[in-house]
Amino acid sequence: ALAAGAEALRTHVRDVHDFPQPGVVFKDITPLLATPAAFGTVIGALAETARRAGATVVAGIEARGFLLAAPVADRVGAGIVPIRKQGKLPGRTVAESYALEYGTATLEIHHDAVGPGDRVLIVDDVLATGGTAAAAANLIRHGGAEVLGLAVLMELTFLAGRERIPSLDVTALLAI
Ligand code: PRP
Repeated sequence: ALAAGAEALRTHVRDVHDFPQPGVVFKDITPLLATPAAFGTVIGALAETARRAGATVVAGIEARGFLLAAPVADRVGAGIVPIRKQGKLPGRTVAESYALEYGTATLEIHHDAVGPGDRVLIVDDVLATGGTAAAAANLIRHGGAEVLGLAVLMELTFLAGRERIPSLDVTALLAI
């Protein structure tokens, strides 16, 4: 059912050339977010993944991941835990740095946000190189919780992100 639905979703993703830097074609999901039927399809499909996996917690990744993670968590009756960029969370945090094409990035989670017994699905908009997802999984496991996998709207397959996260079960609604 989603195969046909995925094609419909694709029409709501817009190519923006030379963003954030020259030579890059940015996949902009804001038209999809602004189209209720398409957004509903996405949330429904991600929620189905969360339900099947038995998620008790949805971990959302700043910033666009939050837009998807929150409605998914609500649909399945799970809690949402934010994984944020450095310096944004008020409490004591655990941090994980990872390599970008140029430089490094750091993600944080509250040290007590997840723990043993929690079954956590990571939700984000895009899987690109996989660095973000790998760091998120490490942060969740650091707390002793179980990582059920990664669910994303879109996977940029040419960047081979899955190879960086072999231990994660990846669900992508769209492959580009
Ligand atoms: C984007 C995207 C993912 C990440 C994927 O976030 O939302 O979180 O990059 O890239 P990776 O697989 O190569 O790690 P970005 O850092 O642009 O943050 P934003 O959502 O706040 O714009």
